[in-house]
Amino acid sequence: MPLLQVENLSGGYEPTQIFSNVSLTVAEGACVGFFGPNGHGKTTLMKTLSGVIDPWSGSIVFEGVRLNASVERKSRRSRNLNYDVLTRPRMDPKKVARAGLIHVPQGSTLFPDMTVSEILSIAPIAAHGAGRVSDTDAVFALFPRLKERLKLKARFLSGGERQMLSMACGMLAAPKLLILGRTYLGAFAESQA
Ligand SMILES: Nc1ncnc2c1ncn2[C@@H]1O[C@H](COP(=O)(O)OP(=O)(O)O)[C@@H](O)[C@H]1O
Ligand SMILES: [Mg+2]
Repeated sequence: MPLLQVENLSGGYEPTQIFSNVSLTVAEGACVGFFGPNGHGKTTLMKTLSGVIDPWSGSIVFEGVRLNASVERKSRRSRNLNYDVLTRPRMDPKKVARAGLIHVPQGSTLFPDMTVSEILSIAPIAAHGAGRVSDTDAVFALFPRLKERLKLKARFLSGGERQMLSMACGMLAAPKLLILGRTYLGAFAESQA
């Protein structure tokens, strides 16, 4: 069974469809790159996988569990929306993160007035209660720079350090699958060199 199985996934930003009928699988332990020109929908697809935006149709199955269930919304306010929107498969980003699918988006804005230490302390919340353990030592081994910056507010970090902090947060969520937005690959490669 693949870790992630996506079938016939379509989505976008109402009313504009950005991608249609995407199918892909990611095996456990695999490292998968997803490449394409600017504006072609890579980020939109990743945001859909992590539940930040709702898929329009298709299925996202993670460790054999379907993440997007077809749940009809019945709130008073939603009665004005059309039926199509009401019956779209919904996603709950909290559940997705709890399941271990962690997305570090490109250009993610960290909390500028919180210190590195404070931000790192809230990062493992997704893993708490889900039985996964955050490996702080591994994070500092990979990004020793962050250890020297613990008391600094995020707003004073350099661009590269912010990227390290974002990736560190993703790692501290003890991911089973870590999705990294493109801008982070450079920092990751540098830190590995
Ligand atoms: N929040 C948004 N609302 C509406 N359209 C968006 C939004 N974000 C991105 N788009 C559009 O979706 C398309 C795909 O963008 P994106 O997924 O960011 O591409 P990529 O990551 O491949 O560069 C682009 O045409 C972009 O303008
Ligand atoms: Mg993008």
